[in-house]
Amino acid sequence: MGWLLVLLLAGMTAAFPDWLVEEVNTPSQLKYTKQGTLLLSNGLIGREFLLSPDFSTVDFYSYEKQASLLRALNPEAVISLDGIVYNISGLLTNIPRAYLNRTALSQDKQANINAFHYVSHSTHSPQAPFKYTPKRGAPKDTKWPPKGLRLDVRFKAPFHAPSIHQQVTVVIHYEIYDGCPLMAKWLTVEASSIVQKKVMLKIEAVELLSVNWQWADAGYQWLLVETDQPHGTVVQWSDDPLQPDMPGSFQRNVQSSYKPSPSLPLSSFSESFRVHELVHASSDPERTGLAQRQKLRLLAPQTQENPIFFHMTNSSEEAVRSVIDQLAEVGFEMLIYSFGSGFNIESDDEEYLNQMKSIISYANAKGIEVGGYDLIDWTRTVPKEWMADAGSSPSPGACFASGWTDYLMERVLNFINRTGLSMMETDGPYPGYQCQSSNHSHHKNVDDSVYRQLMLQGNFFKTMQEMGIYVNQPDTYFYQGGTKTGMGYNENQYSLPRWQDLSVSRQQMFDSMFHYTPTVGWMFLPLVVYHGGGDAAMFEPLSQHYTEFEWGLAQYLGAGVAACYRGYRIYDSEETKALVKKWVGFYKKHRPIITSDIIHVRRADMQGIDCFMHVNPKLQEKALAMVFNPTNEPQQTNLTLPLYYSGLSTIAHVSHEGAAPVAMTIDRRFNIVVNVALKPLQITWFLIE
Ligand SMILES: *[C@@H]1O[C@H](CO)[C@@H](O)[C@H](O)[C@H]1NC(C)=O
Ligand SMILES: *[C@@H]1O[C@H](CO)[C@@H](O)[C@H](O)[C@H]1NC(C)=O
Ligand SMILES: *[C@@H]1O[C@H](CO)[C@@H](O)[C@H](O)[C@H]1NC(C)=O
Ligand SMILES: *[C@@H]1O[C@H](CO)[C@@H](O)[C@H](O)[C@H]1NC(C)=O
Ligand SMILES: *[C@@H]1O[C@H](CO)[C@@H](O)[C@H](O)[C@H]1NC(C)=O
Ligand SMILES: *[C@@H]1O[C@H](CO)[C@@H](O)[C@H](O)[C@H]1NC(C)=O
Repeated sequence: MGWLLVLLLAGMTAAFPDWLVEEVNTPSQLKYTKQGTLLLSNGLIGREFLLSPDFSTVDFYSYEKQASLLRALNPEAVISLDGIVYNISGLLTNIPRAYLNRTALSQDKQANINAFHYVSHSTHSPQAPFKYTPKRGAPKDTKWPPKGLRLDVRFKAPFHAPSIHQQVTVVIHYEIYDGCPLMAKWLTVEASSIVQKKVMLKIEAVELLSVNWQWADAGYQWLLVETDQPHGTVVQWSDDPLQPDMPGSFQRNVQSSYKPSPSLPLSSFSESFRVHELVHASSDPERTGLAQRQKLRLLAPQTQENPIFFHMTNSSEEAVRSVIDQLAEVGFEMLIYSFGSGFNIESDDEEYLNQMKSIISYANAKGIEVGGYDLIDWTRTVPKEWMADAGSSPSPGACFASGWTDYLMERVLNFINRTGLSMMETDGPYPGYQCQSSNHSHHKNVDDSVYRQLMLQGNFFKTMQEMGIYVNQPDTYFYQGGTKTGMGYNENQYSLPRWQDLSVSRQQMFDSMFHYTPTVGWMFLPLVVYHGGGDAAMFEPLSQHYTEFEWGLAQYLGAGVAACYRGYRIYDSEETKALVKKWVGFYKKHRPIITSDIIHVRRADMQGIDCFMHVNPKLQEKALAMVFNPTNEPQQTNLTLPLYYSGLSTIAHVSHEGAAPVAMTIDRRFNIVVNVALKPLQITWFLIE
């Protein structure tokens, strides 16, 4: 009996860890397998490469699902040099592409003599794309650069290629991260500076994968493929062109490339975009959404900063100083000169710079940072020589790869240096035009214009980040250093009558937070009229709209989402001052859990109680649920709180609005049920430890 038990136990292994709840401690590593292949893995996913007869991805594996993603082989990338298309390795084989028959593969494969071929590989620690240290409430234990392992693989041109192409080395980078089923891939090129000037590069594809159905767009979408760029790239799913006679929807390929595809001298190419491959191994929206939110925290940790800011519409010094006093009183952290306030970051007027320096010093001394708005979008009118050249059509606006970028950078840096400004709100720049000019300082012609504009835009945000400047922007340059963008931004929404605005905005925030962390997006509270809507839309005078004002504060600060409170004062009476202090105090007291991701409990439908809940297994405060009754009737309900992602599994200590905690047993679905009774328009919260 005892003997049998020992045998049984020996055959059992621990359950596979859930990386979204537990720390997975298997470090990223590269090792040779018994078959002589290379395996890059982190315990959650693995990518396996054949080295001979040439380099090729021969497996992409999910240890969570115990299943392979890969259905068929492809080249590692495709480029063209001076118009000649080259695959980056990849094997020639006649084996069918419906599934990877490894017996057949072992017998039938050849190097492609027309392709770039494998030369060598090496491993490195991940490098930080920009310098960063946590501040403004971001978690102090952030690891930067992220922990993981990068594999660099070098390839040389085929022997019969033009001799100048033989002097080009293509390097493909595969990077894997500890504790996360995520891989990044990108491409760089090495060549002497003479070769770089002479050779024209076009990148056709950075990644080509043929995947099994359940991972594909047409299947369960267990694999997410994205790029790290806000513009100018595509991730395209398609039927496998090499298997045209088979039922397509079963055999999908995914390819990531540029759009428009730039053609540029090697000398103006630095690196390709990065492809992110996040292996969800699930199609549950909460799970896949949490994974995306983890990816953002891992690769763009600065998006976790979350200052509470105010948007000032009146730039008169007297008004600004008095609002700074108010902000300091209630615990706000940042003042932003709003659009239409007359603020001008591009000014070099000495008197103005000195005035701004004095105001910003005054604010800083009270713990308030100061930032301002600038219209740098692509429709901006700039001097003629910096406008995009659209051929026969009138110029649509500024080209970011012209002298405009130098002017802007110089002016912004000067303003920051002279005044101590530490935040910038950019309106734009957006994607960049296909500019036909051949005399702009940062691009050659139309073929490299968009690529160069995107690189320069990314570089602008990187520079801001490295100087510690907080950036709100409409684009999503997060992997280049940007900090915040609109959360499902819609101008008309914030011009609706107050209760409609609050309700629609709470719904929309709830929906956006499947993919967004609370801290990466901003919402809007129009204290004064914004865009439209008149008296019915604005929250001024605050005392007269006390309840609606409290709802705005509670739903945004309770969600951990910064809102642009836009107006000229944050309170107008002792009562409204106390209200702001109350919710700011609540946010600051529970900041780590409130800025943690939310679990979707009950979407607001205005028929009864709605709820979202923050969770974080790493904190002492494991969950915080915000509960709203938006109806004009009392509401009572048994509210099910799903605690799985809080990391709690047996007992939850539930405290209602700071009262003594009550121990509750967590059921076998990781839920607890709390009885909630709310008065009309009442808001409440539960803290769970
Ligand atoms: C590149 O690889 C593809 C397979 O994905 C193959 O069909 C094509 O012929 C190759 N092209 C060259 C130039 O080797
Ligand atoms: C795999 O390939 C081998 C060798 O070509 C063949 O004998 C076998 O039938 C194939 N298996 C499947 C399942 O296609
Ligand atoms: C801005 O504030 C100043 C000083 O409080 C005030 O005199 C002025 O009228 C305000 N401007 C606007 C447009 O409200
Ligand atoms: C402004 O620039 C000057 C000259 O580079 C430098 O010495 C100074 O420290 C800078 N000041 C600030 C506040 O960054
Ligand atoms: C620059 O190129 C544009 C055409 O794109 C031309 O109209 C303009 O005169 C050129 N400027 C200079 C300074 O060469
Ligand atoms: C909540 O659950 C309790 C216990 O099961 C039950 O007595 C009560 O009627 C429920 N309340 C509501 C509003 O459903």
